[in-house]
Amino acid sequence: MTERSAPTSNEAAPDAQGSPGLENLLTEDRRFPPSAEFAAQANATADAYAWANADRPGYWADQARELISWSTPFTQTLDWSDAPFARWFADGRLNAAYNAVDRHVEEGRGDRVALHFEGEGGDTRTLTYADLLREVSKAANAFAALGVGTGDRVAIYLPLIPEAVITMLACARIGAPHSVVFGGFSAEALSSRILDAEAKLVVTADGGFRRGKPSALKPAVDEALEKGAPSVSHVVVVRRTGQPVEWTAGRDVWWHEAVDAASSQHTPVDVDAEHPLFILYTSGTTGKPKGIFHTTGGYLTQAAYTHLNVFDLKPETDVYWCTADVGWITGHTYVVYGPLINGATQVIYEGTPDTPHRGRWWEIVQKYGVTILYTAPTAIRTCMKWGEEIPSNFDLSSLRVLGSVGEPINPEAWMWYRRVIGADRTPIVDTWWQTETGAIMISPLPGVTETKPGSAQVPLPGIAADVVDDDAQPVPNGGGGYLVLTEPWPAMLRGIWGDPERYKDTYWSRFKDIYFAGDGAKKDDDGDIWLLGRVDDVMNVSGHRLSTTEIESALVSHPWVAEAAVVGATDETTGQAVVAFVILRSDVAEGNAADAATVQETLRTHVAKEIGPIAKPRQILVVAELPKTRSGKIMRRLLRDVAEHRQVGDSTTLADSSVMDLIAQGLAKPA
Ligand code: WTA
Repeated sequence: MTERSAPTSNEAAPDAQGSPGLENLLTEDRRFPPSAEFAAQANATADAYAWANADRPGYWADQARELISWSTPFTQTLDWSDAPFARWFADGRLNAAYNAVDRHVEEGRGDRVALHFEGEGGDTRTLTYADLLREVSKAANAFAALGVGTGDRVAIYLPLIPEAVITMLACARIGAPHSVVFGGFSAEALSSRILDAEAKLVVTADGGFRRGKPSALKPAVDEALEKGAPSVSHVVVVRRTGQPVEWTAGRDVWWHEAVDAASSQHTPVDVDAEHPLFILYTSGTTGKPKGIFHTTGGYLTQAAYTHLNVFDLKPETDVYWCTADVGWITGHTYVVYGPLINGATQVIYEGTPDTPHRGRWWEIVQKYGVTILYTAPTAIRTCMKWGEEIPSNFDLSSLRVLGSVGEPINPEAWMWYRRVIGADRTPIVDTWWQTETGAIMISPLPGVTETKPGSAQVPLPGIAADVVDDDAQPVPNGGGGYLVLTEPWPAMLRGIWGDPERYKDTYWSRFKDIYFAGDGAKKDDDGDIWLLGRVDDVMNVSGHRLSTTEIESALVSHPWVAEAAVVGATDETTGQAVVAFVILRSDVAEGNAADAATVQETLRTHVAKEIGPIAKPRQILVVAELPKTRSGKIMRRLLRDVAEHRQVGDSTTLADSSVMDLIAQGLAKPA
């Protein structure tokens, strides 16, 4: 324990819900300076910070000119006059797919591998940039022939197969914003996203492979559209698993018929820099998911810049692998746009890490000679649990940079990642960002930053972040508070689709003129930032954002449930796990219609149906009362204490102070 880094002045520290081991964060004093060898070849340099500080927008304008090809160069950099609605490079024009694909082919890089696809069952496909250009052009022509024009929205509900990347780029090519819905979401969740974005086209597959078995997707699309979706005219279906599918004539179209028959010549549509590139729904503090939307020029600039500098990408020699699905923001920025804009060669893998064996990921690293690996702490902790002899059976010596994203990484997992996967040699970049920020915001720079296990450390050059107290005052070093972003950045969200007021309320009303991220954080004595987890009603399960309110709404929509409260309880592997407390309707409770096991199973299945299997509560506890303040707000903090088997904290603000005893007694009873 070092005295200097103890969390002393943390009075202002919010009630952050962190991941395992976070309480020890600030006592961590191991340090890893970059090796001279790495630093000598690194893309990033220390002087970038000062350079960017001197003229933040100017720094980004330089990056935009250097990393992106513009059909009409911009003359304006940042327009913040209508804050918090930013416009970056607004008079420039460009096309995202042209930047990600065509220009590499035009500049003689057509033979470079863009994608090494590894199917779960071991089937593989290699697509060069020239192949990608042909496939994306065909898909763009096919979608256009189905009536998709610039500005129309396209919903994508696909497994992680090359067609997912091709579809996103084909949409970008015609200026049709895509809305990718993670394949693990239910028909219900898909339906609400299709309706909110008024999608014209849905692109899906018969199914994908999960844990050695085909897992259907098309039935969820059918079910979602049966609920009514007047905007949707067609569904394009990729044949992946060969499962039988229901077919709606006139609406459904096979990919291999429509796309394969289309011409491979397509002219990318130039759009304004501020043209929406995509919508991605994410959980907020209320029940309804937010359609975060990003535009083109600023987003691509920061995606490319961060991918190049944070991962030290050398496009000619590196083999990059980000394990995220394209259903999440990490898959958008660090599978599709960042790497392809930079002309990288990358691996995409369809399946789970333990199919058909627990060494699958390491086998893939060995097979393709992966040099840069970007994954989530939950995956690292799972591998730790499986034991280090599994990765030790594979040759991982190609790895040279390791990244982490999605939740705070506890120092123990960080050290394991470095030692076992990185041979005690590779720099680790712990990258903090959000769906809303579009790209990495806080991270060490490999070759520059002396790293600290568990800390995301410093805002990138050109990014302004701070930790503030309740009154928006920056906390001193050693203090804790809320993470905020104090200056606009190129990849920032431009709003919530169709709801500008909610955008202002959610991010810009907590503090005046600064962006509230929703995360608790501390600054150590060096001023480095340590993330502590969410301070709002958002949970982080395996790096996936889930809203407590959304799961509560799903639970009370079941006829048995009168009231529900959901908390994220610390979980050794997944960071947090969903624990639900429910009050059953009196007829159900009294009639003893259901025993605890049946209630648990029925409600878990119900949540999976309403939202998706990822939202299933780990545990559902039936209680007689819920702890509420006098104003009726559920005190989740107390429920978290119960869920984490801790002594229940201060309950003096409860309207009825006996409630916690009641809950404790009820839970002590055998089911
Ligand atoms: C959390 C994922 C600590 C955080 C890119 C944030 C992290 C939320 C980190 C966004 C990190 C992400 N350290 N916490 N390195 N990265 N988070 O929108 O709570 O799925 O607000 O974006 O994940 O999740 P999202």
